[in-house]
Amino acid sequence: MEQMDKHRREDFVQELFGSIAKRYDLLNAVFTLNQDSYWRNFAVNKANIKTGQSILDICCGTGKLSIALAEKAGLQGQIVGLDFSENMLRQAEDNIKKTPYSQRITLMQGNALHLPFPDHSFDCTTIGFGLRNVADIPKTLSEMYRVTKSGGTVLSVELSKPSAPILKQLYFLYFEHLLPLIGNLGFHKNQPYYNLPASLRTLPEHSVIQNIFLQVGLKQITSYQLTGGIAAVHLGIK
Ligand SMILES: C[S@@+](CC[C@H](N)C(=O)[O-])C[C@H]1O[C@@H](n2cnc3c(N)ncnc32)[C@H](O)[C@@H]1O
Repeated sequence: MEQMDKHRREDFVQELFGSIAKRYDLLNAVFTLNQDSYWRNFAVNKANIKTGQSILDICCGTGKLSIALAEKAGLQGQIVGLDFSENMLRQAEDNIKKTPYSQRITLMQGNALHLPFPDHSFDCTTIGFGLRNVADIPKTLSEMYRVTKSGGTVLSVELSKPSAPILKQLYFLYFEHLLPLIGNLGFHKNQPYYNLPASLRTLPEHSVIQNIFLQVGLKQITSYQLTGGIAAVHLGIK
């Protein structure tokens, strides 16, 4: 995966999520022991969303973070969920239909590395469990920065690597060995579960992500480690 060029990597990731779109929400809940909802809600609470704000959620997948953001922005809010996987967007549409926010959330197919919006378009720009999947993290964050209004927030919630020795070993045992095995038992395609450890291994450390937030121009960078460092929220102000 590390050796792939950007385009091949994007094709790979797109195909991978396309193949698990229908099962993504269930798998996420099972494999994170339902912590994923808690992590998204934690992130949304830190994003300082106000009623009526406009928010862009990139790599929106099945729309879980977009829906949590819409709950905060209320019935006057405007949320755009963007993803390059048609199948994930289809699932998002189904999920959003079950909420009162179908008029408030617009779904778009697009690439996080080339956001189809003018500068200073949104009060807040988010990415949920997407940074480890994009082909270029600095470019993605600089695009998020560009489309965010001055004073607005750029936020990422992402899986992370715990630093405490025992937890770190348990974590890699789970993600490297147990999780692919579980995936293999109940589902036709196990590739996504083999990809997860690789994408986690290549995910930069906290300090590197914080530095990229700074390099793209964000200020007041804040980070939170959740569930013993298994997930992390990073946010900055433009
Ligand atoms: C792990 S899922 C996260 C979905 C959702 N944000 C969540 O909270 O569960 C990652 C998503 O990122 C999307 N993705 C990866 N790279 C992308 C890119 N360059 N542009 C747009 N979407 C991308 C994938 O299609 C996938 O739906």
